[in-house]
Amino acid sequence: MEYLDVLSRWTHVGTAIVIVGGGFFIRFVLLPAVANKGDAAADIKAEIHQRWKKFVHAGIGLFLLSGFYNYFRLMSGHKGDTLWHILIGTKILVAFVIFYLLSVLVGRSAKFDAMRQRQDVWLGRVLLLAAVVVGISGYAKVNLPARPKPPAAAAMETPEATLGEAAK
Ligand code: HEM
Repeated sequence: MEYLDVLSRWTHVGTAIVIVGGGFFIRFVLLPAVANKGDAAADIKAEIHQRWKKFVHAGIGLFLLSGFYNYFRLMSGHKGDTLWHILIGTKILVAFVIFYLLSVLVGRSAKFDAMRQRQDVWLGRVLLLAAVVVGISGYAKVNLPARPKPPAAAAMETPEATLGEAAK
């Protein structure tokens, strides 16, 4: 289980680095660099849009998979810990707003053309929300650690205990 816990954390934090970092690069480096550059810039933006879209979709999937895994693994160590549940619940809701905005920005629906035309503004908002999500997650991780498992429950999870059970 511990390997899976580490893999899930690695996936979660790695996805945050790629998606938040990629959004930051587009908002603060790419968009200002190609502003007012005419048709050539429009072609480059369209190409980037197509490539970035795949990372956004994969990133949302990985966030959900690793996030819910972390959540269910940590839940038992946070029984009765109201503040942790409020913070993580809020964080998950804010993350869903981020997923919605990112999907709209890489999508094709004509309904959201106006938002895509102001990508700089909307990506800026996504980054602000992402800063809130990372802040809440960091606070929960550092200041609200999960209670350790009772020794009997922890012993059940060691490989020796598992082998012992199998031999019975
Ligand atoms: C914008 C999307 C998200 C970002 C940027 C993000 C970022 C992070 C970061 C930086 C951590 C701290 C990891 C560590 O220090 O080990 C974390 C932890 C966590 N995340 Fe996310 N996350 C996102 C979405 C989600 C979603 C959708 C879920 C659940 C469905 C989720 C559930 C969790 C849980 C349960 C933790 C552990 C908190 C703790 O240690 O008390 N996250 N996240």
